[in-house]
Amino acid sequence: MSTMKKKKYRDEFIGLQILQGLLFRHHQRRRRLHHLLPFLSALSGCLLFLLAVLLFLSPPTTTTPRHYHLTLNTSGVKVHMNVEKENVSRVTMKGGSLGRDLWTSNLSNFYYGCSNASHYFLAAEMHTVPNRYLIIATSGGLNQQRTGIVDAVVAAYILNATLVVPKLDQKSFWKDSSNFSEIFDIDWFITYLSKDVKIIKELPQKAGKVSTTRAPRKCNEKCYETRILPIYAKKRVQAVQLTKFDYRLSNRLELDLQKLRCRVNYHALTFADPILQMGRKLVERMRMKSKHYIALHLRFEPDMLAFSGCYYGGGEKEKKELGAIRKRWKTLHTKNPEKERRRGKCPLSPEEVGLMLRALGFGNDVHIYVASGEVYGGEETLAHLKALFPNFHTKETIASKEELAEFSSYSSRMAALDFIVCDESDVFVTNNNGNMAKILAGKRRYFGHKPTIRPNSKKLYRLFLERDNMTWEAFASQVRTVQIGFMGEPNEVKPGKGGFHEHPLPCICETSESMATRDRNSEGAVDSKNDPDQGTEEYSGEGNDDGYSEDELDLSEAEYPEYDNGIPERVSANRKDSGSVLKPDQPELEEIVSD
Ligand SMILES: *[C@@H]1O[C@H](CO)[C@@H](O)[C@H](O)[C@H]1NC(C)=O
Ligand SMILES: *[C@@H]1O[C@H](CO)[C@@H](O)[C@H](O)[C@H]1NC(C)=O
Ligand SMILES: *[C@@H]1O[C@H](CO)[C@@H](O)[C@H](O)[C@H]1NC(C)=O
Ligand SMILES: *[C@@H]1O[C@H](CO)[C@@H](O)[C@H](O)[C@H]1NC(C)=O
Ligand SMILES: *[C@@H]1O[C@H](CO)[C@@H](O)[C@H](O)[C@H]1NC(C)=O
Ligand SMILES: *[C@@H]1O[C@H](CO)[C@@H](O)[C@H](O)[C@H]1NC(C)=O
Ligand SMILES: *[C@@H]1O[C@H](CO)[C@@H](O)[C@H](O)[C@H]1NC(C)=O
Repeated sequence: MSTMKKKKYRDEFIGLQILQGLLFRHHQRRRRLHHLLPFLSALSGCLLFLLAVLLFLSPPTTTTPRHYHLTLNTSGVKVHMNVEKENVSRVTMKGGSLGRDLWTSNLSNFYYGCSNASHYFLAAEMHTVPNRYLIIATSGGLNQQRTGIVDAVVAAYILNATLVVPKLDQKSFWKDSSNFSEIFDIDWFITYLSKDVKIIKELPQKAGKVSTTRAPRKCNEKCYETRILPIYAKKRVQAVQLTKFDYRLSNRLELDLQKLRCRVNYHALTFADPILQMGRKLVERMRMKSKHYIALHLRFEPDMLAFSGCYYGGGEKEKKELGAIRKRWKTLHTKNPEKERRRGKCPLSPEEVGLMLRALGFGNDVHIYVASGEVYGGEETLAHLKALFPNFHTKETIASKEELAEFSSYSSRMAALDFIVCDESDVFVTNNNGNMAKILAGKRRYFGHKPTIRPNSKKLYRLFLERDNMTWEAFASQVRTVQIGFMGEPNEVKPGKGGFHEHPLPCICETSESMATRDRNSEGAVDSKNDPDQGTEEYSGEGNDDGYSEDELDLSEAEYPEYDNGIPERVSANRKDSGSVLKPDQPELEEIVSD
């Protein structure tokens, strides 16, 4: 069977990588040692003496092992199953088992972002029809709104309309009153795109009637021409306003339109100056702590977990608390937590993320920046992750209250700061598949395939369950195997598959050097590593027109459900008897999951 063969290939390849790494290092060390032998013996003498002095002077050392945190008495919320039973001595503190540089993808040199227009693409002044305006109201959290802004520019191009700078959603769950120019650099946005689409700050006073409607989900070029364009032909209408503008543009468009999307997303949309400056300050502070850092986008809020219908081993207390939150949405049917987990629908717990990172080779000396909202179970839940990665930072720990004051009461500005630190990180990892995870994954591909780790939850699930029955080495090795295709390497999905913002393949070009190598040995290691099938398991098979499989659609719908016929209402009667984790103002279902 071909899948068998593929798997064998993969295992051999990993083996080879590790072997190469070891051999190379060994060789280098031998050569250096040869020259340094006399010097080294003198040095080691000195060191021994120093050590003796230090031992004599130092206070008695505690006998508690470093990893004692893992056996914390978790009488409250237990996040990982069988926490007490865990054989903690098996979790190594050191990383370094991947056999290659953890901080870069060596294939990245062969790819580059390319979003220039072809000469078929019409300049703004060639296609913009006078007195035809497009007004856009975005929806959701910062990153969902970002997809809306990107798609709005393309919609304006398709319609030959002048775009009015999109209005941000100020009423969503995230309740941020900031306007466009307070989040993004509005002048740069307009100037950078001036060749492509005419953009103005406000609808002119003299413009005629505004007609308001919603574009269908995943509408393509034809769809805009048949569904939206005719509205401009109505009497006196000069402006069409499209509301709730998120995911209203197809993942598949002609090449020049996809390139336009990338120009908007990766070049035209930059944050406003105050956000940019603070973001850079945070990045600098992380860099001062160590040469490299990991950024983790952790979504583990009570709302999110309740919505997911997953169970994290917290017993009756957890079931009661999350169950109470779930009841707020009438239309949310009961889910089987076990099944959700098997289907890879459950966000990894903080501890699971930590174990995955350790298995991938990141040691306990690595500095980690965590971007997260309220974490269910609070410090207790985070303790497991902090035990694995003691150098644990957040924007609150590396910046003062005063510095954050101008941002902290605006959720989108805070999210923007996290966006910058995550984007600049050497390795970005998420425990979820939300909008921020997707957008950043795409952006990092475009700018040189900076490593981006998305958990392969479907496969990791079994490993976490069986961990007690395995040696650490076996566990780690299997984690590394199932994560192939989920590490942000080039070509993890087939062209035309996956969501565009996550996999902007039309905007990623290959160097001629790379193509030559591939042609020469089409059965070579680079190819087997890059077998696009490996990353497409989530998407392959029953893909529909848009390149989504059933599973992916399932998730996408959850993230941006079509509520045109009846928004699921929260049951307000339940508000009183709710537990302490409940906030007085429960958000709508769709808004929780749109970040
Ligand atoms: C990438 O690294 C692996 C293992 O270190 C090596 O086998 C492979 O040849 C490298 N690829 C390129 C293109 O350098
Ligand atoms: C955890 O602590 C509680 C009291 O804080 C105690 O009753 C319980 O026996 C402890 N459990 C374990 C496993 O040590
Ligand atoms: C934990 O694992 C180590 C090494 O695998 C083993 O020697 C030890 O006996 C185990 N301890 C327990 C309590 O299972
Ligand atoms: C894209 O266009 C810019 C300026 O118009 C140019 O500097 C750049 O080299 C072009 N990139 C590619 C890949 O053609
Ligand atoms: C937009 O303008 C171009 C160039 O004039 C034209 O070819 C195209 O059909 C127009 N499209 C629409 C939707 O008006
Ligand atoms: C955005 O908000 C700022 C500050 O409240 C205000 O000065 C600016 O005029 C607003 N811009 C728009 C386009 O409403
Ligand atoms: C671990 O192994 C034992 C004995 O082989 C088995 O009964 C148990 O179900 C296994 N546990 C898991 C989680 O696989």
